[in-house]
Order: sequence, then structure tokens, then C-alpha cells
Amino acid sequence: MRETLAKQDADRAPDESAAATRAPLFERDLEAWRRVLAVAGVGAEGNTERVGWRIVEGLLRVTGADGCSLSVATWNVEMLASFEDGRVSRRTFFRETMGSRGTLGHSALRSGMPETVLRVSHDPLHSYPESVREGRFESVACFPLSARGRSLGVLSFYYRDPRRVEKEDLEFGMLLAQSSALAVDNSLLLNEGQQNVLLTVQALVRSLEAKDSHTSYHSLRVTQHATVLAEQMKLSQRETRIIQYGAMLHDIGKIGIVGDILNKKGKLTEEEYEVVRRHPSIGARIVETVDFLADTVPIIRHHHERVDGTGYPGGLVGSEIPLGARLIAIPDFYDAITSDRPYRPAYSHEKAVEMLAERTGDYFDPDIAEIFLSIHHGARVAQAP
Ligand SMILES: [Fe+2]
Repeated sequence: MRETLAKQDADRAPDESAAATRAPLFERDLEAWRRVLAVAGVGAEGNTERVGWRIVEGLLRVTGADGCSLSVATWNVEMLASFEDGRVSRRTFFRETMGSRGTLGHSALRSGMPETVLRVSHDPLHSYPESVREGRFESVACFPLSARGRSLGVLSFYYRDPRRVEKEDLEFGMLLAQSSALAVDNSLLLNEGQQNVLLTVQALVRSLEAKDSHTSYHSLRVTQHATVLAEQMKLSQRETRIIQYGAMLHDIGKIGIVGDILNKKGKLTEEEYEVVRRHPSIGARIVETVDFLADTVPIIRHHHERVDGTGYPGGLVGSEIPLGARLIAIPDFYDAITSDRPYRPAYSHEKAVEMLAERTGDYFDPDIAEIFLSIHHGARVAQAP
């Protein structure tokens, strides 16, 4: 491996005499390396993006590189942490990945071996992504990431001055790549596990809604709208996931209310309405017994609050209402108003949008309502499925 790379370097960088004075790829601080291996390999979580940034920033700080990036094959993005004027800067490059043919990363991914180019400006063989051009990097070392027999992506180290590569650098780089691949793979697996949980929750809610034709698919549609809203609001993966679970489960407390009241054709009596108003609290009590759903409890408990304080059960005002509850209140209202109820037919999309706009600022958070209306105003919302 060393000979091949030494030959490549000689081919591409004729000033070989200068190579002996160049700095090696990685600083020889064994304690720092040990810490990075611990950071990269331990503490994986379901948020792959956060795991990725932790890896590249951790490696940047202790390896002596000017830039470190992680490309995850399934995302088509490259996450780059680099030193700019002595500070760590983060940048994400879309569709600038090691998967692009002709790049050094692509060669590493295909061969399963490290690939280095020590003088980018002398290299006629590869194309370089935007991250290299923008960062003004001159030396590049790419290490393939793989776990459980599948290619996950590429870990790259970037330098602004030419470097020399030693056998130990390649071995150490591969060790870093293996540890990083383990952390990325674990978080992807956790993500898949969480998706399975959501599907299970969906199946449970569907079986409950099947008993009442009037609320069929209501929770699923609210979840779909809430997901789009959360994405538009640029909430994190974790926040979006909590809102999805909360939206799916927001009316689960109706399981504790007798069907005669839920399906009543006429107007509810004051006593009956009082019973219906208990469903957010009943739902919260059901869900708070499940550990991994604990973050959804405030959403479920407060999804009928209004920003002017006239909602229930807490009579909370404005930002006292948890963000997720303020968010799902809007698609919950929209979907309820555009669905048939035992006591009235469905309103049209146009009428629902009008009613929503009228109640914004009293019932609904104006900022979130504005985003919902900008997405749906004038457009007929799909009544899926
Ligand atoms: Fe509700």
C-alpha cells in the first residue's frame, strides 16, 4: 500500500526532495487519537446528522488536518468541518459526494482502500468536489467507510499544504474510518428501528379509528401535514420525529370516551362536552407510561390549547403552549373541518382555509399558521390515503 502511494506521489509531485520536509498526515498525539476513537465509536444515537458532525469536528481537532468531511452514501451530502481563520466552520455540500465518478472518494469507495493525492494542483486524474475548491485544499486523503459488508460512505481529510503519507497514517486513517463507520451504522440502524416504531404506532391508531368511520385516517393525515410543517420550519430530525409520534397519538385519549358521545348526531350537552374535553389528559396519562414516547406527552396533553388562553386543559397562553402542540393544532383543525362529522358535512378546502385564517392569533400561533397557509393556500390538500 505504501509503495503504491509513494509511487503515486512521485508521479504527481516531482519535487520529491521537498517531501522529506513535509508534515505527515496525522499528528502523533496518541492520547488525542485514543480520545477520538472513543468519540467516534461510542455513544451512537439515532440522529445520524449529529453523529456525523461529532465525528468530523472531533477528528478535525486532534488529527492536525485543515478539514475533515464525512459523506454518507444514502444522503448524497458531504458534511465538512474545517478551520477558517483559526475557527471551526461547518458546511454541508449537496450532491458533492464521494459517489461522483472520477473523484478520489469514489475510487476509495470502489476499491475499499485509502486513496491520497498530495498535490491536488498537480493531479490530472481526478475531479474534485466543491468542498476541495472552496476550502483551497492541496492534499486529500480519503478512507472508505463500510460496516456489515455494505459501503456507507467516505471519510476525508483535507490539507492546505502538501503532505507526505506514511504507512502508519494509512493504517491509522483506516482505524478512524472503521470506528466512524460503526458509529454511523449504529445510528442508521437506530433510525430504522424508530421508523418501525412509528409504523407500529400507526397500525395501533388505525385499528382504533376503524371503529369510528368519521375519524378514519384523521391522525394519519394530521401526521402528514405536521411533518411537512415541521420540515418547512426546519425543525431538527429529533423534533420532527417527536411531532410525528405526537400527531399520530394526539387523540388516543378518545379510547376512554364512550362511543355514544363521540358518535352523537346532535349537539352535545354541557356534561357530554365536559367528557370530550377530558381526552387530551386521558391520552397523556396513557402515553406517559411508555418510556420512548415520553416527549410526546406535552403535545398530546395540550393540543386543544389556544394561544389566547381559551383552550383546554391548561388555559395556556402563547408560547406557554409547547411548540409541538401549537403546531399540530393547525392541521388538526384543518382536517377536522374538511371531514364529515355526525352533526355536519365537511367544509370545503377554501372555507377551511378562510376559517383558519380568521382564527389565527386567537386560536393558532400566527407564525406557524402563516407557514401552513403559505403551503396550502389556494391548493387543494390531498385527502390521503
Ligand atoms: Fe383532539
